[in-house]
Amino acid sequence: MTTLITGGTVVNATGRGAADVLIDGETIVALLAPGSTLLGSDLVHSVDRVIDATGKYVIPGGIDAHTHMEMPFGGTFASDTFESGTTAAAWGGTTTIVDFVVQYPDENPLTQFALWQDKAAGNCAIDYAFHQILSDVQDSSLHAMDELIAEGVTSFKLFMAYKGVFLSDDGQILRAMQKASDNGAMIMMHAENGSVIDTLVQQHLARGETAPYYHGVSRPWQAEAEATHRAIMLADLTGAPLYIVHVSAKQAAEQIAVARDRGQNVFGETCPQYLYLSLEEHLGAPGFEGAKWVCSTPLRSKHEGHQHQMWNSLRTNDLQLVSTDHCPFCMKDQKDMGIGDFSKIPNGIGSVEHRMDLLYQGVVTGEITLERWVEICCTTPARMFGMYGKKGVLAPGADADVVIYDPNGHTSIGLGKTHHMAMDYSAWEGFEIDGHVDTVLSRGQVVVDGGAFHGRAGHGRYVPRALSQYLI
Ligand code: URP
Ligand code: ZN
Ligand code: ZN
Repeated sequence: MTTLITGGTVVNATGRGAADVLIDGETIVALLAPGSTLLGSDLVHSVDRVIDATGKYVIPGGIDAHTHMEMPFGGTFASDTFESGTTAAAWGGTTTIVDFVVQYPDENPLTQFALWQDKAAGNCAIDYAFHQILSDVQDSSLHAMDELIAEGVTSFKLFMAYKGVFLSDDGQILRAMQKASDNGAMIMMHAENGSVIDTLVQQHLARGETAPYYHGVSRPWQAEAEATHRAIMLADLTGAPLYIVHVSAKQAAEQIAVARDRGQNVFGETCPQYLYLSLEEHLGAPGFEGAKWVCSTPLRSKHEGHQHQMWNSLRTNDLQLVSTDHCPFCMKDQKDMGIGDFSKIPNGIGSVEHRMDLLYQGVVTGEITLERWVEICCTTPARMFGMYGKKGVLAPGADADVVIYDPNGHTSIGLGKTHHMAMDYSAWEGFEIDGHVDTVLSRGQVVVDGGAFHGRAGHGRYVPRALSQYLI
């Protein structure tokens, strides 16, 4: 099956230009000057399908490098399955996710990896890869890191918070970093000072401060900035590459910038919620409503310059990419477990469907350029996590993961049940986007077009990843 996407403006991280995209089977075979279809090769003349992208942007499929489908967490499971979550992702122009295999204390990381492979296999509408969470770093975990790299899992998430659940102490973090320094893996860090947070949580609850708002107040920016600094120092000591996940505090972003200026291999992501949502307006919504936005790191105060800093850091490359940290829970029977005690609200927000749109709105408002949009949503995630070449770029030889984005279209998010995530609310209700995901191809297959889903569970394939392409 050959496909020609004609008339559009092809946008890569490196630039834009009018070009036609020729696809053979699952792969892009050529970017052609417009009109060369009339003069060109036999392949062009005999294309099976022509897609008209006149007036639209043609971009690489989005890569969401931080999702939690079906995650067992907070006494329940994230509400999106691999099927519903990857279908929703496709609707929003994301064609690859990197999800997290979960290892709780005393579980074997390799057994858990096999379990997650089983959960995903045959169920995903788009391609998928895995990071591995390590919750207690034992000798066996260090051996497992080598074996997992051979399986294409080249990044490992550690936690400085969630004592008794995921938290690793500094000695354990050090050992995992020493291993990563040897084998080239990326250490991903949930950087919040868990001990400080646990104490503040108990103090708020003892004062009867039980509403969702206090989730944010009990996880202050100092707890994030301190842990970020500590993680950076431990990485410096060991020589391990470090990637800080879900950065929300201005002061944490500054720590990352300082380390990068020193020449250290430190990277960071932020998420749409930290670009648009706030402690006061969202976590502080009346009654129990704020539970919709309970996630960690938490939404920050709109009066302290955090959102502004996140956009700035994205512009200046002090932060390199935007992932969603998609970890959805319904209000009914999930978030409502925390009525009367905010610490029992499962932590997480669902956004996998909206990341490309929400970040495109940053192009419309002048926060980032069109090319930077592609870079932080598609290209850098591929490079950071060892998929670039096949993913993250429109070029000959790349997988034909392609999004046709209409800058004259419009997307109203979450007014009624307009999304496809398995959630009974939208964290983004009322957001208006001056653009629209029109058509999505995953390895040459049209999965979304004309307001309809044409994909299928099981089309998505496991992507074994190489080491990060940002490391020497
Ligand atoms: O609130 C969040 N972020 N939930 C998912 C787990 C994590 O820490 O990434
Ligand atoms: Zn985390
Ligand atoms: Zn997460």
